[in-house]
Amino acid sequence: MTLSLIGLVSIQIYWIKNASAVKEANFRRSVNESMVKVVQKLERMEKNKAMQTNQYESMLNFNRHLEYDAFVTTGGLDSLISLVLNMRGIDTRYEFGIYKPEGSQFLLEKSTNYQNELIQKGYAFPLFPNDIYTSPEYLCIYFPLERQFLLTELWGMLLISIILIIIIVYSFSYTITTIFRQKRLSEMKNDFINNMTHEFKTPISTISLACEALEDKDLRGSGEFLDSYLSMIREENRRLAGMAEKILQTAVIDKGQLKMNKEQIDVHKIIGDVVKNIRIQVEIKDGEIRRRLMATHPVIEGDKVHVTNLIYNLLDNANKYSPKKPLITITTENASNGLVITIEDNGIGIGKNDQKKIFDKLYRVPTGNIQEVRGFGLGLSYVKAIVEEHHGKISVDSEVNRGSKFKVFLPNIIRE
Ligand SMILES: Nc1ncnc2c1ncn2[C@@H]1O[C@H](COP(=O)(O)OP(=O)(O)OP(=O)(O)O)[C@@H](O)[C@H]1O
Ligand SMILES: [Mg+2]
Repeated sequence: MTLSLIGLVSIQIYWIKNASAVKEANFRRSVNESMVKVVQKLERMEKNKAMQTNQYESMLNFNRHLEYDAFVTTGGLDSLISLVLNMRGIDTRYEFGIYKPEGSQFLLEKSTNYQNELIQKGYAFPLFPNDIYTSPEYLCIYFPLERQFLLTELWGMLLISIILIIIIVYSFSYTITTIFRQKRLSEMKNDFINNMTHEFKTPISTISLACEALEDKDLRGSGEFLDSYLSMIREENRRLAGMAEKILQTAVIDKGQLKMNKEQIDVHKIIGDVVKNIRIQVEIKDGEIRRRLMATHPVIEGDKVHVTNLIYNLLDNANKYSPKKPLITITTENASNGLVITIEDNGIGIGKNDQKKIFDKLYRVPTGNIQEVRGFGLGLSYVKAIVEEHHGKISVDSEVNRGSKFKVFLPNIIRE
């Protein structure tokens, strides 16, 4: 496609060049024909004048034609040239003069500013070619705006070509970017399905193992075992339900059917609940969650379940992506008409380029060695959707290998 595009553009350029050469040749021919006419007319005018004033004979005798002013003035010649040129469709500015190489002088000229151009770049036509006794004189004509004139004639064609080329290039690049976007999307979907299968597999196999154990008649007698297996099944089932819920939630957001149950919620209380849930996972890794709840007015209008999930997702990420001794700090502050929640960790961080994409659905930072960290790539896209539903803002500030800081602003009152 690139090759044929280049070919097309070069052919186009070639044709335009050709057309401009043809135009130029046409122009020259028209100028030639016009000026030959002018020269002939001048000859006739001179003869007529000579006959009228009875100088014809003396002219023959002396082999010398009349002075220019005697039969044609500058103005007269100008209107003659203009008439002839106009007849051929050449209506651009021109300068003319009658030049005599002997003595290098202009016998007549329209304006005195173009003497050099007339001699160097103008078109010259010998005057009175039959008069062999006087030294030659030339009628020179010069078009100061010749280029522009020829270009305006080509302008339409040039414009259409440029527009067509732009359209082709645009659709070409659009197609290419679409193909690449689709390819990336399909890769992400593949990853998602892989991850999902893995995530579901663990609880499913745990449950089936527990079931097998329960079927064992020897174990059934002991109430203690029964309880522990049951609670294991319940726990794994809860995890499965949670995961299914997460995936379904995304579909709901996609359809724009997210429902919000607005009420007055105390964010400090929600943070307390979430931290209680997640603390064990952090402490297993020898880590710590610090709370710096400095907001004096932590109550906002919002949906309790969604805000809980929001904070859970951010804390979950902070824990998941901090492989060694996570130190997670969660801070709240009152801002003008709202609340700012900051969640900071000392984990692997996110590169500048990825920071723009992590809020996209299914996007996960591609890292070779930490692929054990499982996830769907849905968490942050959900968080963003929720923040937007609350008319808030979310931003990330992160440095690779240093840690990440997510800042969420939620307004006190949701104004539609
Ligand atoms: N605190 C963090 N530190 C480093 N990287 C992070 C952090 N939070 C998110 N990321 C990166 O952003 C990506 C997207 O995060 P997101 O929460 O949307 O998905 P996930 O955690 O992979 O999966 P899940 O849907 O289970 O939350 C992650 O895969 C990770 O690469
Ligand atoms: Mg996550």
